[in-house]
Amino acid sequence: MTDIEFKNTRYTIAGEETVLDTLLRHKVAIPYGCRAGACQACILQSDASQIPDDCQPGLNPQQIRQGYFLACRCVPDQDMQLHEVDITSQKIPATVSEKFLLDNHTLRLRLNCRIRWVAGQYVTVWIGDIARCYSIASVARLDPFIEFHIRVYPHGAMSSLLYNQTHPGDTLQLQGPLGSFVYHHDKPDQKLLLIGAGTGIAPLIGIARDAIEHGHAATIRLLAGSENNECYEEKHLQRIQNSASQFSYHTERTDNIETVLNSHYPSLRGQRIYICGGEDFVRRCKKTCFMLGASPRDIITEEFINFA
Ligand code: FES
Repeated sequence: MTDIEFKNTRYTIAGEETVLDTLLRHKVAIPYGCRAGACQACILQSDASQIPDDCQPGLNPQQIRQGYFLACRCVPDQDMQLHEVDITSQKIPATVSEKFLLDNHTLRLRLNCRIRWVAGQYVTVWIGDIARCYSIASVARLDPFIEFHIRVYPHGAMSSLLYNQTHPGDTLQLQGPLGSFVYHHDKPDQKLLLIGAGTGIAPLIGIARDAIEHGHAATIRLLAGSENNECYEEKHLQRIQNSASQFSYHTERTDNIETVLNSHYPSLRGQRIYICGGEDFVRRCKKTCFMLGASPRDIITEEFINFA
């Protein structure tokens, strides 16, 4: 039996339960968001010797030295003494500068914020105790704002707050940036294929513009999947295509993307592939690209997190 101690109370871990699940089962108030190790909302601290492997992904060396870990990833293998972490200092205020509906259910939000980011990374957005991750669509060297493309769900805790109750001039809190889904400058002559579904094209647009800005010489092709083959960023993609000869794009129904890959790309050998979308979409496209000859080390993926 493994116990954790938090705020002078002991709790017993049930089976393969995580620290977060145990605390939530006992109705302990603790911040969390993705429950998948991405948003860093659930950071706690413990003695470094008590922390199991694989529960400090994305934390910086100083946080690791201090014994920080992600409660949603931590299945203890020995008793642990837990301490709360005040993440207030990690949150950075951002002012909403623009809010615009790109189509019936996709919101573009622009914020002014003193964050250094690389296009394609994501941040955790906080409103009160609600935390959600959004990829950054803008490019730091080109845009004086952070831009998110947010799918609005009628019952989405964060998206409906952003859609209904957030206005230009309001302040949100951001944590990050996080992740390594970014353009790599090491091979400017390597063809890039960017594959996205829905708002999964947001970080890909950032990556494409970043690559163009860095003078990427080889072709950059973006496959934009959507439910009805109506891409919410078609005009923007057209502008990029008109201004950068190495860039082109193709819109397609999401469920047809694999067919397009198989029929238009006899070989992906030597190409670098970026894929972003839901878990199943990413898994299927990754497999197809591998079957078409792409090297696993050249397939870079980012999955949406299901916050349901
Ligand atoms: S809830 Fe643990 S990292 Fe998001």
